[in-house]
Amino acid sequence: MEEYEQNALSSTRHVIGVMSGKGGVGKSSVTALTAVALARMGYRVGVMDADITGPSIPQMFGVHGKLDSADTGLFPAQTERLGIRIVSLNLLLDREDRPVVWRGPLLAGAVKQFWTDVTWGDLDFMVIDLPPGTGDIPLSVMQSIPVEGLITVSSPQDVAALVVRKAVNMARMMEKPVIGLVENMSYIACPKCGEVIHPFGKPAGAELALEMEVPFIGEMPIDPSLSEAADRGEIEAYESPIMQGLADAVVKHTGAGAPKK
Ligand SMILES: Nc1ncnc2c1ncn2[C@@H]1O[C@H](COP(=O)(O)OP(=O)(O)OP(=O)(O)O)[C@@H](O)[C@H]1O
Ligand SMILES: [Mg+2]
Repeated sequence: MEEYEQNALSSTRHVIGVMSGKGGVGKSSVTALTAVALARMGYRVGVMDADITGPSIPQMFGVHGKLDSADTGLFPAQTERLGIRIVSLNLLLDREDRPVVWRGPLLAGAVKQFWTDVTWGDLDFMVIDLPPGTGDIPLSVMQSIPVEGLITVSSPQDVAALVVRKAVNMARMMEKPVIGLVENMSYIACPKCGEVIHPFGKPAGAELALEMEVPFIGEMPIDPSLSEAADRGEIEAYESPIMQGLADAVVKHTGAGAPKK
């Protein structure tokens, strides 16, 4: 499969993807936090929700309703605070609560069109929320869109470690460099006394990253205010030290210059 060109009205400098070997580890959260962190630095950022059958990006950013379109194609939605441009299948459906029951080729086709037929405009970064796992869609996204690197998300269970290895190996097979590994839900800090609890056992991310020879971006604690912000559509207001780590890793990996003011 060859890489597709964007349309004449779009130019995206750097495309990065967020992947994980399995679902529910926080891929969409990491996608959103990376996009927010880059936008806060002053970069122009888009988010492509390529998790076609489980889209959650619009909800996190509080964007709803249908995308505008013109003869030239679709226009992304834009978030209120930071002007992050967003495209998701959920913004094309008449009803957000209807499942998408398409088969693989149709799904892959939709993602391709998000790249070719959307008027993204001028972007410094596009962050792609890939579907979980190492199946058809992540494969075709990586083949058809010029993804420069991948952030991998893990959680500290043993099974997750195995799936991280799978994800990293898949990236390698696709010849896509891994920007770094984030371990999500590593610990909880007691809001009263600050004691750190490891509900899933000892954090394993740093060691795993070392073993896989990929950079370690850091640990993300379980933080109820993150899921609350996501549920309320206010992810742009969320603050966490991991966010700068994510943005720095992306800027370093892509060699992006300072944002244009
Ligand atoms: N560090 C965290 N602290 C608290 N809640 C979290 C954290 N990370 C993720 N969550 C919550 O867990 C749920 C799953 O996270 P998220 O949607 O980011 O995962 P995902 O890997 O994209 O899942 P899926 O495979 O379903 O797409 C969400 O409700 C999210 O708000
Ligand atoms: Mg998700």
